Order: sequence, then structure tokens, then C-alpha cells
Amino acid sequence: MILPIVAYGDPVLKKEAEEIDQTFPKLKELIGDMYETMYAAQGVGLAAPQIGKSIRMFVVDGSPFADEEEEDDEPDPKAAGIENFKKVFINPIIEEEEGEEWGFHEGCLSIPKIREEVFRKEKVHISYYDENFEFHEEVFEGYAARIIQHEYDHVDGILFTDHLSPLKRRLLTKRLQNISKGEVNVDYKMKFPVIKKAR
Ligand code: NI
Repeated sequence: MILPIVAYGDPVLKKEAEEIDQTFPKLKELIGDMYETMYAAQGVGLAAPQIGKSIRMFVVDGSPFADEEEEDDEPDPKAAGIENFKKVFINPIIEEEEGEEWGFHEGCLSIPKIREEVFRKEKVHISYYDENFEFHEEVFEGYAARIIQHEYDHVDGILFTDHLSPLKRRLLTKRLQNISKGEVNVDYKMKFPVIKKAR
């Protein structure tokens, strides 16, 4: 089932989400719905707070980054392995980030039509549980690390706009307010926090 994606301005996006355990009701169904929702919106990652659930879980599928590369002659080292980067992260902990910071124009399904450059480190060491509650400790880099860092921020109540300079954020204020009010053209289902008054 495709779920509505919560738009910028909803308090659930600013909340630190809670860990879950295996008793969480209908977890498999929720994961399936999150994938369906993410694909319908052509996203590469979706965190539970974005569908209104304040729990520490996100799903990713980075394969669109691999498709982009096919037209290019030079293979992009940041895209290495991205075609198989499809995972569920439950109760993730970024243990360490390392390497040079690099800039990338990030977008977010909760903030449609806005892309801004965000600087993050190259590599992440992360521990997490998968959909079967098996524990993993892995290292990711390039676009995979970037997707993880963005989605991990979501379960901590942080949005990519929080990483921008105060000036850049100020320049976006009006557009962000419009998104909260639903005054944005978007071709997937969303839930907007500001209810417009009937005229
Ligand atoms: Ni996002």
C-alpha cells in the first residue's frame, strides 16, 4: 500500500525517533509499504518518520544511481556497488564517519522540488538490524554512504535543510512554507501539515 509522505513542517520530521524490537506490530507489512511508497515517488531512500511513524527505521535502494552511470564513459567510483544497495536499516547507529567531506545536491521526498548542496564525509561505519532482526556492522562509502547519512538524519529529526548556511536557508523560507501548505506540484501522495482555511 502506498502511504502519503509527510511534508516539510510536520513536527514528526523534527522528532528523535524511537528504537523498535521484533514485537513491533506488522513490521514486514510496514517495510513492504515503505518500499512501495519510495518507488512510487522515485526515491532512493525513505525513513519511517516520513510516513508519520516515529521509529528508527529506513529503507534504501540506490540502484537509480547505477542507471545514471551507464550513459557515462568514466565509471564513477562513488557509484561502486550501488546497483545492489537495497536494504532495510532498523535501530541503526553510525559508529564512525571518516574521509574528506564532499558536496552533493541532495533532495528529499518530504521537501519536493528543492535540491541543495550538502557536505558530508565519504565513509560511514554503521551497525543495524535488518528486517529479520539479524545484526550487521558494515562500512559504506560514496553514494551508499550519502543515502545512509541522509536517512539516518531523518530518524534523529534532522533534515538536509538543517545543514545549509543560515543565508541559504533564509532564501528558501518562502518555498519551504509553500511546501508545508501544499502549494507545490508533486506527482506522489503527500500529507501537508498546514491545513488551508476554507474561503
Ligand atoms: Ni529525506
